[in-house]
Amino acid sequence: MKDNIELLKKNVEIAELGGGKTKIEQQHKKGKLTARERLNILLDENSLNEIDKFVMHQTTDFGMDKQKYFGDGVVTGFGKIDGRDVAVFSQDFTVFGGSLSEMHARKICKIMDSAMKLGIPVIGLNDSGGARIQEGVSSLGGYAEIFLRNTLASGLIPQISAVLGPCAGGAVYSPAITDFIFIVRNTSYMFVTGPNVVKTVTHEDVSFEELGGADTHSNKSGVVHFTYDDEVKCLQSIRKLLSYVPQNCDDNPPTLSYDREEEDLPELLSIIPDNPNKPYDMKEIILKVLDDNEFFEVQENFAQNIIIGFGRIRGKSVGVVANQPSVLAGVLDINSSIKGARFVRFCDAFNIPLVVFEDVPGFMPGTDQEWGGIIRNGAKLLYAFCEATVPKITVITRKAYGGAYDVMNSKHVRGDFNFAWPSAEIAVMGPKGAVEIIFKKEIQQAENPEEELNKKLNMYIEKFANPYIAAEKGFIDEVILPNETRIKLNNALELLKTKVDKNPKKKHGNIPL
Ligand code: HXC
Repeated sequence: MKDNIELLKKNVEIAELGGGKTKIEQQHKKGKLTARERLNILLDENSLNEIDKFVMHQTTDFGMDKQKYFGDGVVTGFGKIDGRDVAVFSQDFTVFGGSLSEMHARKICKIMDSAMKLGIPVIGLNDSGGARIQEGVSSLGGYAEIFLRNTLASGLIPQISAVLGPCAGGAVYSPAITDFIFIVRNTSYMFVTGPNVVKTVTHEDVSFEELGGADTHSNKSGVVHFTYDDEVKCLQSIRKLLSYVPQNCDDNPPTLSYDREEEDLPELLSIIPDNPNKPYDMKEIILKVLDDNEFFEVQENFAQNIIIGFGRIRGKSVGVVANQPSVLAGVLDINSSIKGARFVRFCDAFNIPLVVFEDVPGFMPGTDQEWGGIIRNGAKLLYAFCEATVPKITVITRKAYGGAYDVMNSKHVRGDFNFAWPSAEIAVMGPKGAVEIIFKKEIQQAENPEEELNKKLNMYIEKFANPYIAAEKGFIDEVILPNETRIKLNNALELLKTKVDKNPKKKHGNIPL
């Protein structure tokens, strides 16, 4: 027995060294942590219960029978984050470059299957050269098995990916299906085809970082949701994200205790400029309204005309969606609609109430947008709000014009509580556009067209650029003072705790993709 125990201890030690000391040093030299070091930061101390530590590949081709490593390039198991269970996999670049073999894939699929049965989130730390070349089609099959599970788990349990090294070729599609992608600058990249293939096919010269690095996906493509300068911050942020999110679609998000007095916020009285065309920063309002002025923003650098992210109101987790008047006047365009829609659907899938701050002049006009499919893409955000059955609250701070008024969680699409500040302007379009259309002839035929235009403008502004016509019709539940916003939101969230709403029974809807 003693020998058996010694053998086990020795093998565990070997397994935990992955590809060995030299490879670990190489990994560190690249500014990257090892698979196990990453899990130690991600999970509560000593909480990892590893499984399949001694799994090895089964290939004999290309002399692979002489190159075997315990674990086969991925550490898998279960651990805790803030005391809550999670399933994890962490690819080990020190073993065959973290490449995905049939057995490596089986390990990942095993913990995904368990996570679905247990109703716990899956977190995948990706650092891999892609399909294990020596295994050919077996590794492609392995990827497909993972993609299938990513899809089946979507909306059932939260799925989070971190890209902490290469993630190339078809391998990108596993993170792409998951709910959130985290990435680190300078060490990590994602692309379908690398710079060499790009050069051959399109003759473009492009670096790894430029083609698929963290900033590219954070600012340009919108593929990733969170970007960090180092792995430690990245892994700690995954922990933070989970603090806002339930374990599965039948669970509720965690509520933190909050025992301070209810706060009136007089600072909110002076944020909206007197000139309705002057921008202001919607984030100021969001930060003031949320507990401890803490906002966990998602896709901070992409489509900045819409703001999305998580926060809390008196301890209750909320998903915030807000127009940003200081970027493109807060207009809805293709990218902002897609960004908003996916976030709304995540919150709805996982029972996180939605709080919308609205100041939107409408949809972006122009050939760029029309030819790019603003109709199809704008419909995504509309569809997402229409379909959502979680508590949905809107605060209109200023403009709510045209179709965008309907889209941004209006009463008509099942908004539960719709509040407007006295500065709200709710109308079919902005005053100038409206007046130029309906009074076109009168203005043209007037002795002084400019004077006539201004007269009509003033008349229109007085009559329509306010919240009271909408309030008369019950399209706004209450016109509130800005300083009462947090109190009103909290009261609404408390009331809506027992909300039950359902969509008609069907196989699934057909969101315009
Ligand atoms: C087997 C691999 C491997 C792979 C890397 N290695 N990728 N082994 N299959 N796909 C091995 C290397 O041989 C090397 O082994 C070790 O991992 C480290 O790799 P290096 O090249 O030394 O590291 P680095 O210089 O950092 O470069 C990393 C890299 C490069 C950019 C990822 O290794 C690379 O280009 N790999 C191939 C990428 C690729 O084409 N993958 C297939 C994509 S197709 P030794 O023993 O020398 O240390 C795909 C399809 C998925 O993934 C389809 C799903 C639908």
